Amino acid sequence: MKVARFKERYGPYALIAGGSEGLGFAFAEAAARRGLNLVLLARKKERLESAAATLRETYKIDVVSIAADLADYENVKETVAALQVSIGLLVYNAAFAPIGLFENTSEEQLALAAAVNVKTPLLLTKLLSAAMIRQKRGGIVLMSSLAGAQGGPKLAAYAATKAFNAILAEGLWEELKPHGIDVLACCAGAILTPGYRQAEKTKPAPGTLDAREVAERTLKALGRKPMIVPGAVNKLGRFILTRVLSRKAAINLMSKNTRGLS
Ligand SMILES: NC(=O)c1ccc[n+]([C@@H]2O[C@H](COP(=O)([O-])OP(=O)(O)OC[C@H]3O[C@@H](n4cnc5c(N)ncnc54)[C@H](OP(=O)(O)O)[C@@H]3O)[C@@H](O)[C@H]2O)c1
Repeated sequence: MKVARFKERYGPYALIAGGSEGLGFAFAEAAARRGLNLVLLARKKERLESAAATLRETYKIDVVSIAADLADYENVKETVAALQVSIGLLVYNAAFAPIGLFENTSEEQLALAAAVNVKTPLLLTKLLSAAMIRQKRGGIVLMSSLAGAQGGPKLAAYAATKAFNAILAEGLWEELKPHGIDVLACCAGAILTPGYRQAEKTKPAPGTLDAREVAERTLKALGRKPMIVPGAVNKLGRFILTRVLSRKAAINLMSKNTRGLS
C-alpha cells in the first residue's frame, strides 16, 4: 500500500502497545515511515522517552509517550480514553511469557500472562475499534506466535495466550471488514529482540528474523489477509505443524524445541 493511502486508511496516529524496544519499536518505525504519528506505551519511562525522541527526530512526526503497565487495563483505558488524538491503528505487541514447568510457575505469573496477553489486548481492541467503527476505517494488529499453533511444554500458558490472539484476530478480520477495519494476526517465529535473547540461551532457532523485517512484512500484509506468518522457514514450519502432522506429532515436535527452556 502506498504511503499516502496507508496514512489515509490508518492515520493519523498509531498506538503501539509495547513500543519502546525490540519488535514494538520496529512497528513504531514502520508506522512512522508510512507517515503516521505515534502513541507509544511501555513501562520503563527512560527507555520510552528515548525511543520517542529518536522517532520524533528521525521521522519529524508527533510522538505521545505513555508510561503505563498493560497488566493494569483500567489505568490503560483511562489514559487512552483521555488522549486528544485519533487512533487509526492499534498494534498490540507486548506480551509476558512465563517460561518453565507449569508446576513451578506461580499464580501471579499466570495472572500476569492472562492480563497482558489476553485481557488487555481484548479490551483495548474493544475500546479502540468503537472509534474506528464510527470513523469507518482503521487497522488492528495482534501479535501471536508460531508457539500458539499447538501446545508446547514449558510454555503452555504463553502458547495458549498466543492462540487466543490469533483466533480473536481471525474472527474480527471478518466481522470488522464491513466497517472498513482491517485486522491481522502476526504469527511470528523467533525474532531477534531483547526479550528473545533473554529467553533463548542457545543459538537462534532456524528462521529467526530481524524485528524490522517482521514489522515491515506485517504492515504490508494488513488489509490483505487475516494472518501473516513472516518468513519462508516459519511459513513452512507452521504448515507442517498445523496441516501435515497430527496434533500429537506437532506437540511432540514442539516439545523437542522447548525442552531446553527453563
Ligand atoms: N521475540 C520472539 O522471538 C517472538 C516470537 C514470536 C512472537 N513474539 C511476540 O512478539 C511480541 C514482542 O515480543 P518481545 O518479547 O520480543 O518484545 P519486544 O518487542 O522486544 O519488547 C516488548 C515491548 O513491550 C513493552 N512491555 C512489555 N511488557 C509490558 C507491560 N506489561 N506493559 C507495558 N509495556 C510492556 C516493553 O517495554 P517495557 O519493558 O518498558 O514495558 C517493550 O517496549 C510479543 O507479543 C511476543 O509474544 C515474539
